Amino acid sequence: MKKGIIGICSLVHDTSACLVDCATGKVVYASAEERFSNIKSDHHIPFYTINECLKYAKKNNYNVKEAAVAYDPEYFLGDNFYIIINSILKNKKSTSKFIDFLKEKNSFFNIEFNFNFINNFFTSNMINIKKKDKRKIYELLTYHFNSMIKYKKINQILNDFLPGIKLINVRHHIAHAVSAYYNSGFEESNILVMDGQGEEDTITIFKAKKNTLKEISKTTWPYSIGYFYQIATFALNYKIGDEYKVMGMSAYGKNKFLKYLNKCFRLNNDGSLTLNKNPYLGIKFFRDTKYQQLNFTNKLLNLIEKPINNNFKQVHFDFAKSIQTIVEEIGLSLAKWAYNKNRSKNLCISGGVALNGLMNNNILNKSNYKNIYVYAASGDDGTSVGAAQYVVMKKNNFLKRKKVNQVFLGYEDNKIKNKNYIKKKLHINLDFVKCKNVFKFIARELTKNKVFAIYSGKSEFGPRALGSRSIIANALDKNIKKELNLKIKIREPFRPFAPIVLNDDYKKYFKLNFNSEFMLFICGTVEKFRKFMPGVVHRDNTARVQTVGRDNKIFYKILSEFKKITKIPVLINTSFNIGGEAMVNSLEDALNSFNQMDIDYLLVGEYLIQKKKRIEKKKIDDFIDNRNKLFNKKNPFPRIDILRLNANFYTKTSRVIIEKMKDNLRNKIKGKLFIK
Ligand SMILES: [Fe+2]
Repeated sequence: MKKGIIGICSLVHDTSACLVDCATGKVVYASAEERFSNIKSDHHIPFYTINECLKYAKKNNYNVKEAAVAYDPEYFLGDNFYIIINSILKNKKSTSKFIDFLKEKNSFFNIEFNFNFINNFFTSNMINIKKKDKRKIYELLTYHFNSMIKYKKINQILNDFLPGIKLINVRHHIAHAVSAYYNSGFEESNILVMDGQGEEDTITIFKAKKNTLKEISKTTWPYSIGYFYQIATFALNYKIGDEYKVMGMSAYGKNKFLKYLNKCFRLNNDGSLTLNKNPYLGIKFFRDTKYQQLNFTNKLLNLIEKPINNNFKQVHFDFAKSIQTIVEEIGLSLAKWAYNKNRSKNLCISGGVALNGLMNNNILNKSNYKNIYVYAASGDDGTSVGAAQYVVMKKNNFLKRKKVNQVFLGYEDNKIKNKNYIKKKLHINLDFVKCKNVFKFIARELTKNKVFAIYSGKSEFGPRALGSRSIIANALDKNIKKELNLKIKIREPFRPFAPIVLNDDYKKYFKLNFNSEFMLFICGTVEKFRKFMPGVVHRDNTARVQTVGRDNKIFYKILSEFKKITKIPVLINTSFNIGGEAMVNSLEDALNSFNQMDIDYLLVGEYLIQKKKRIEKKKIDDFIDNRNKLFNKKNPFPRIDILRLNANFYTKTSRVIIEKMKDNLRNKIKGKLFIK
């Protein structure tokens, strides 16, 4: 029997799970929970996906005794907390004693507990501190201790769910770093991690060599570049997870806000980031707690006025562009700082900010790094993989690693090879297309601007559709972008579409010097070819390219046939979903979505399906309702919302919320009162 380890991301959002082979370190199964819940950037504990991992392990003879979880509750009480407490107590011994005492406590946090707890500790341990200082510590606890307790509780829940499996907690930024480094194939590399926040970390820089990591710089909350992008996203009336839309908007704007914002951040000599005092971007302190976060001041927000219902004016596009430029410049400065500290030719970039393909390309073009690797799931979903691979890597420093450039690792309906099975699942108005060579047929129809959905094999890990759950269309048509956005994806008209292009040809059309399989580098387009592929050239003449080799079988065959007809092996590839919905997952879901959407054909495995007649479509809200019902029916697991567990950060107002939360959880997990 083989040995496997489960990886779990259950931090804030984009929860996920994976199964890693302990002997090779390879990921054999991985998925984001959203693929099974239809909640984009899902913020629930990923029970369904963990269960899928266990099922996969059983079927494929893996013995699983360990699970790596991509956060470390005790890290909340780490170096930073020590420094802060010690600055109040001014006594190393007392500080250590106090922190050790905190670590032992597992009671759920509330005001009374906290208050009594602190008083008792200081009285019984004969440590004399002033009332004022006690108050300071009490406030600090509301954030640090509370965070630790929250994640200990999640561990407790996971323990109950995984009897006999030992949980190993891995610091969130280490999990991010390893997900990139382990799969890059680089023997040595610098690693730049940037996200909203993981425990206390917001930006970390590591150097890695022969499977060992050394941290060389760290920035902690509230100085977060990921959160900076997030508050800009909120200012544009988008929600968490919509940051990529802001990146798309930036192409339409000018850097008009740089004069206000470009001096806000300061990169220190030790590689950490802080704020310069300025009137536009500050730190908001919460009442009665040490919790703090970045925020734009009213002076800045008044300049842009929040858009309503995506009614964007030029000022919003200018704002998006300015934010984008700042993030690109900070990313580049950090990468250069790391290079000066450790002159490696390789760089791995990870964390949610690494999904910013414009920033990645800017670093590649303007730094001394020869190679840059970004893992397909560089957001939080990928930390399940990083956590599991970290545990494997630590046990075996000599484990050989290879560059990973395909991530078809998720759900698969094996029966799609069986024509009779598909036939049984077809809606009444759907039928197979009879054709000799399906790929030739697809290529020919694409030139007539027909649109195809593809449902095949295992789903992709990471937020991009890379060929298993895709919609493809003719990139050479000048109206296709508008049509796809409005009719098929039902989303804002400014949103760009990404190209797929054959490995042999991409240099001719795109300013890219290496294979880029995960759409994580947004590069320039070659001027003389722009007019031939209007569907994939964004307003600023860039494109988020996915290069395709023979190992991506379906895309490779379609592009090759398309090239024979048009001489240009470039097509549009976008995710198979309606705007705002998670990508399709099961065959049933694919058939329902195809039926609903204005797509001409659906390729299921090797079988092509068409609509016999135009059917009366369901209202979009009804369709989404039905889709949710289908997902819920298949999901028997409790739904524990991690975000709701955050609610007790605020001391004075928290009590009511805590009580509500307890009831909620009690109702949802019958018979299991894990809240004391
Ligand atoms: Fe993260």
